[in-house]
Amino acid sequence: MSALSAHVLEEIRELPAKYPQPRSAVMPALDLAQEELGHLTRDAMSEVAVALQLDPGYVEGVATFYSLFQLEPIGKHRFYVCTNLSCMLRGANEIVDHVKQAIGVTQPEQISADGLFSYEEVECLGACEFAPMMRLDHRYHYDLTPSRIDELIAERRGREKDVLPASGEVARSAGGEVPPPKKTRTPRKKKADG
Ligand code: FES
Repeated sequence: MSALSAHVLEEIRELPAKYPQPRSAVMPALDLAQEELGHLTRDAMSEVAVALQLDPGYVEGVATFYSLFQLEPIGKHRFYVCTNLSCMLRGANEIVDHVKQAIGVTQPEQISADGLFSYEEVECLGACEFAPMMRLDHRYHYDLTPSRIDELIAERRGREKDVLPASGEVARSAGGEVPPPKKTRTPRKKKADG
């Protein structure tokens, strides 16, 4: 049985025509696979390689190099909270604490009991003027507050139940969200020595 659905594989096969170099399609292809499965399994990476007619080692190399690709289950929605200087000075640590409490985890390796959420602290995401900020579901969220975190969690839970509609674009001044810059590589937080 195929790891990826037929329609995702079809989308992946169509990607190379959009790029001058067909192998440039590997990142968007892996993104589609991850979006469907939540993380990249070995089977999924093999299917991406076949669909793009690329060497499986190359596809796996890209997947393991970029931190935005997850090779282990991480929950469907992952909070990448920037805790670098500007964000830290404007309350990033409190945001992290609130995320952890709201989804009921204590460590980045943990997934919430409903399987939907996890979090990670990351380095500067290049939007310091809108601190504190984070990335969630391929979008940047600015001017974070604990209540905004609660709204985002409730929206995601609602979507899963098909109860609430997706929120759509939200004005930046109200703690808004925008897509991250293209080719964003989310820098992981370095672990402290010792
Ligand atoms: S310090 Fe957080 S985005 Fe730059």
